[in-house]
Amino acid sequence: MAKKEQWGSRIGFLLSAVGSAVGLGNIWRFPYQAYENGGGAFLIPYFIAALTAGIPLIIFEFAIGHRMRSSLPTIFQRLSKRRGYRNWEWIGWFQPLLAIFIATFYAVILSWVFYYIGLSFTNGWGSNCETFFFDEFLQTSSSPFAFGQINPVILILTALIWFLIWIIVFRGIRKGIELAGKIFMPVLAVLMLILMFHQIFQPGAAIGLDALFKPDFRRLTDINLWIRAYGQVFFSMSLGVGTMITYASYLPKESDIVNNAFLTGLLDCAFSLISGIMIFATLGSMALMQNASIQDVVQGGPSLTFVTIPQVLNRMPASHIFGPLFFVSLAIAGLSSIISLIEPLLSAMIERLKISRKQGVTVICLAGFVFSTLFTFRSGILTLDIADFFSSNFGMLTGGLSELILVCWILKPDFLADHANLTSDFKVGTFWKLCVSFLTPVILFIILAMNISQAFAPAGENYGGYSFTELFVFGWLMMGILIILSLIIQNLSSRRTQEMIRHIWEEITPRDKGEI
Ligand code: PFF
Repeated sequence: MAKKEQWGSRIGFLLSAVGSAVGLGNIWRFPYQAYENGGGAFLIPYFIAALTAGIPLIIFEFAIGHRMRSSLPTIFQRLSKRRGYRNWEWIGWFQPLLAIFIATFYAVILSWVFYYIGLSFTNGWGSNCETFFFDEFLQTSSSPFAFGQINPVILILTALIWFLIWIIVFRGIRKGIELAGKIFMPVLAVLMLILMFHQIFQPGAAIGLDALFKPDFRRLTDINLWIRAYGQVFFSMSLGVGTMITYASYLPKESDIVNNAFLTGLLDCAFSLISGIMIFATLGSMALMQNASIQDVVQGGPSLTFVTIPQVLNRMPASHIFGPLFFVSLAIAGLSSIISLIEPLLSAMIERLKISRKQGVTVICLAGFVFSTLFTFRSGILTLDIADFFSSNFGMLTGGLSELILVCWILKPDFLADHANLTSDFKVGTFWKLCVSFLTPVILFIILAMNISQAFAPAGENYGGYSFTELFVFGWLMMGILIILSLIIQNLSSRRTQEMIRHIWEEITPRDKGEI
């Protein structure tokens, strides 16, 4: 068997893991989640989720990957065999498939970002940014089912993104992913800091920062706030889809786990805060300019970045510098994340199907591109909004919960703690075990149950005001298909099924005449 690839250096691994975590989730998603969920009110559940679920789970996933050093299906199969339990290999297929599903719509959002980089040099979105984004650029249809035509510009840019992914991942761990992390992350940090400092010194910035940081304790009883905060942490820290496990499986034997996990989680939070501060400061200056409150000047939701930022750029003197800086940052952050979404399935294919990295990445990128076209229709932003909501609030949480149940409830997490402590400067102890074996699984369980019960909420109270059928088809059905597909693949790869297939094959293929 070919030798497993490894990271070239500790910093290379760290920057790649941070590259996976820091992405559109921090710059595009975090600010609008914070905005929609009450600004300061959102930060409290967000930090609690980051400290009790996010960082402990990064330690957990790094430790599993480093300890087991295989691809996900093999890891979960071997883990469940430790005690002779039923085969849980399906988790090892569900997570990578979910990762690819996320990549398919992530690529389309990135294609919008690329288009906006081009526009930002001349503020090419014109004076009415909202009409431009929805009506001229996306030509958004009235409902997720009203597909309309494919948008050729978005299609071409999406193809370009899949091509870029292909080039980076094709080059392998050290020369592709690690190199990208080492270049992208420092550049991103510098760009984001420049943008943030520029924005907080604009008149009116304080109004926005007040909205972001002023806590509203009364809203803490709103369960939806907690659901969104956990979903955001999972999405932002790339948890529950096998990315962190797979990245850690490429670590050399003597590698620090706990320290690297802390750094990854804290840097991810830092990037979210920097972009939150930048965007809210910008909203504040806009509110001052229009002499209105923040709620009156901006639109929440996925369009915050694509409508509000251009609106502000239209009024900024040096917009032809800051516009491209902002959208290039978004593109860099997104690219380093999307490449990490490919790796879990790719490493599984390389290990199980005995194919080369080059063959695997070619198949995945082609298939990914074909599936991405679903989101390039005129209904794209609507279908994508539902797919994003279900992936993070249902899929990733299910991925996380099932790995926690297997490792912490069936196997007991002590072997992972011992493993992490063996190689790490900081040691994990009771608090970590409490988080991964009790606190996080129980909270995830409650959130999942709430999400499922909300699916049957009366019309009008559903997520985003979509109808039950729309949520069912683009959300539940997609998630259901991923779970069923994982169970089928697990079954197909079991020895009994393979023997059965071989037997049937021998029965139906004609034998040599001489044998009769
Ligand atoms: N963490 C990424 C972001 O914040 O944009 C998204 C992501 C990347 C999620 C990789 C999951 C993943 F495996």
